[in-house]
Order: sequence, then C-alpha cells, then structure tokens
Amino acid sequence: MKMKMTLAVLLVMEICGLSSSLIKQHFFVKEKMTWDSANNYCKTYFHDLSTFTNENEEQRFLEDAAHQPSDAWVGLYTESGVWMWSGGENAIHINWDTSNKQPENDGCAFLHKGHKKLHDIDCDDKYSFFCMNISELVLVLRNETWEGALEYCRKQYNDLASLSSLNMMDSALGKSTQAETEYVWIGLRYLAGDWFWVNGDDLDNTAWSRNEQSQCPARDLRCGAQDKKTREWIHRNCEEKFNFFCSAQAVKVQEQQKQQENISQMPPTQ
Ligand SMILES: *[C@@H]1O[C@H](CO)[C@@H](O)[C@H](O)[C@H]1NC(C)=O
Ligand SMILES: *[C@@H]1O[C@H](CO)[C@@H](O)[C@H](O)[C@H]1NC(C)=O
Ligand SMILES: *[C@@H]1O[C@H](CO)[C@@H](O)[C@H](O)[C@H]1NC(C)=O
Repeated sequence: MKMKMTLAVLLVMEICGLSSSLIKQHFFVKEKMTWDSANNYCKTYFHDLSTFTNENEEQRFLEDAAHQPSDAWVGLYTESGVWMWSGGENAIHINWDTSNKQPENDGCAFLHKGHKKLHDIDCDDKYSFFCMNISELVLVLRNETWEGALEYCRKQYNDLASLSSLNMMDSALGKSTQAETEYVWIGLRYLAGDWFWVNGDDLDNTAWSRNEQSQCPARDLRCGAQDKKTREWIHRNCEEKFNFFCSAQAVKVQEQQKQQENISQMPPTQ
C-alpha cells in the first residue's frame, strides 16, 4: 500500500513541476562553532552549510532535521541588511518563527530545535550546525548490462543510482522519459535473500510494480530497473543491456559539463 501511495504522490509532484534535479542531503554536526567556522567546516567536509530555498526543499530539509538534538546553524546570513543563502542567493522564502518575534535584526540564522522554525542571532555565538551534500541524478544513454552500468557509474560519476530518498525517486521519474530503452537500470540488486541498494542505503521507500513480488525473484531476474512507461520498478535479467541512472556529486557534474563544452568548442581536426 505504502509503495503505491509514494509513486502516486511523486507523479502528482512531477505534474505540478516541483521536481528539481539537485538533490540535497543534510547532516547534523554536533560540534558547536561560530557561523563562519561552521561554514568553513561544511565547505571542507561536505559541500556547504544547509540551504533550502523553496518550500519543497524546506520540507525535505525538515525531514532530515527531524531528530536534531539541539539548535543548529543553517546557511542563512545577512549582507548589508539583506538575507542571503550561503552560496549567494537572495533569500525570499524564509520560515521565520514569527510567533516568537523573529527575526530580531541579528546576522545569522539557526533552526530552533523545538519550533522547527528559523531564529536569528549574533553570528559569533556557538551552535551545532547542518551541512549538506548536493548530488544529481544522471541518465546515461549507453546500453550496458547491470554490472557494466555499475562499473561505468563508479568510474565516471559516483555510483549506480540508489533511489532511496523521495528526492531521488522524484528526480528519476522526471528523467526516465528521456531514456532510449524500455527499462533503465537502477542500483537495486537481489543477493543472499534480499533486495538492497548498492550504496548501502535502506530500502524504505519503494515503487515496485504491482505485478512484482519484492521477495524471491526468479533465478534469472535479480537486477532492478525502472520501467520507462509505468515508472515502476521491476525485476530484469542482469545481462540485458539498458540505459542507466548514475548518481553524481553535483560539483562533478558541472565540471564534466564544462569539459564537454570545451570539447565541442574545439575546432574540428583535419
Ligand atoms: C559529502 O561530500 C564530500 C565531498 O565531496 C565527500 O567527501 C563525503 O563523503 C560526502 N558525504 C556523504 C555522507 O555523502
Ligand atoms: C540502445 O538500445 C536502444 C533500444 O534497443 C536503441 O534504440 C539505442 O540506439 C541504443 N543506444 C546505443 C547508444 O547503442
Ligand atoms: C576549458 O577551457 C578553458 C580555456 O581554455 C580552461 O581554462 C578550462 O580549464 C577548461 N575547463 C575544463 C573543465 O577543462
């Protein structure tokens, strides 16, 4: 029941144009630091302090922040009196804790543990903080076996995509329509009695086709793919060759796109 609901919700979101191709994953860091030090820490060990620039991103952030043990900085600060997201975007949608008289004209923002809303305070105060990593789903238009796809993704990007978060599933729904094969490999594998994601994520949210038993597939159908038409997951023979989804660090995707631009700008060789 749960899996059907999920797919329906995602399809509605996609129709409403809410799907974004950047996938932000947020991490709570317990250590208490000033906002600047936290910013540096996140840029060193993750990609950045956590930002959530629209309602959809905010909802996803709050899911990741649900069990925060203490108040924690987010990537929101003022520059000449204007609120900005760390990364440089003007902040338009900010979920201030207005019923507690926020904001109060201080320099940096934290998420209140109890209210789940933003408060501002002096940037030199010390708080725990949220860092994020940004990844992206890439549809690769090559035809590979499941193992071939895994190898390609691990070499060129990060991994064969694990659609473990609603964000990832959502992004896959939008992109699979561009596939050239009927099915698209994803990082789902059946081994030793269980289906699992190759990157080790929990298999909580699923979108199996109604006709598929998620348990015990036939001996020759032990790799997972997304059906381009129904957009549900099905069991396929690992030796079949399909297009596939890789997950990539967003920063790396941009570099590769730049490299491709360079290649296409080079004069043709005679
Ligand atoms: C976050 O990104 C950094 C930098 O790319 C990487 O080293 C780290 O392993 C990532 N962390 C997680 C939990 O994905
Ligand atoms: C992959 O297979 C599909 C379907 O058989 C075909 O249309 C497509 O041209 C193939 N792509 C490549 C890059 O070989
Ligand atoms: C693209 O070309 C420019 C100018 O030649 C160079 O500075 C840059 O490093 C190249 N970028 C990549 C990603 O190769």
